[in-house]
Amino acid sequence: MTAHIARRATIVSLMAAGLLLAGMVAALPGRAGGAAVEIADFAFTPATLTIMVGDTVTWTNSDPMVHTATSTTGAFDSGDLAQGDAYSFTFTEAGTYDYLCTPHPTMTGTIVVEAPPHDGPASPPPGEIPNVAMPAPVAFPTGWLMAALGIGLLSGLALRVGRRSA
Ligand code: CO
Repeated sequence: MTAHIARRATIVSLMAAGLLLAGMVAALPGRAGGAAVEIADFAFTPATLTIMVGDTVTWTNSDPMVHTATSTTGAFDSGDLAQGDAYSFTFTEAGTYDYLCTPHPTMTGTIVVEAPPHDGPASPPPGEIPNVAMPAPVAFPTGWLMAALGIGLLSGLALRVGRRSA
């Protein structure tokens, strides 16, 4: 094998390894995300926000008067938020969390916290009719795709190098 080919093989394998690593990191579960709720004009926007378990929601008050984001079940309470103040809460349990503004109880909002798919039951409990309607859209597994691409590049390279040295 000439030095030129060896150098090219090294570059390609470094690229493949990098892709593999990036793919594996992207595929790691439990990456926490964030979402924002704006408090303005006596309203929470969006009024209903859907997140995943582990995500953090940050409420920011843009109104010139004090508001709160207060769970109706006591799960969280921002306390008084003056203009420009922000409050963050990390949701660790799936569920539907209704909240309101204590000084203005007509201001209401809902945070829907969804569990990761693998946390759900593998099959419906006995006696329940399985839902065979349209399956929920599945997030494109970019991370694993990248990892698979990396593995493919590496094995393709190994084959080529093997043929050359044979
Ligand atoms: Co208010």
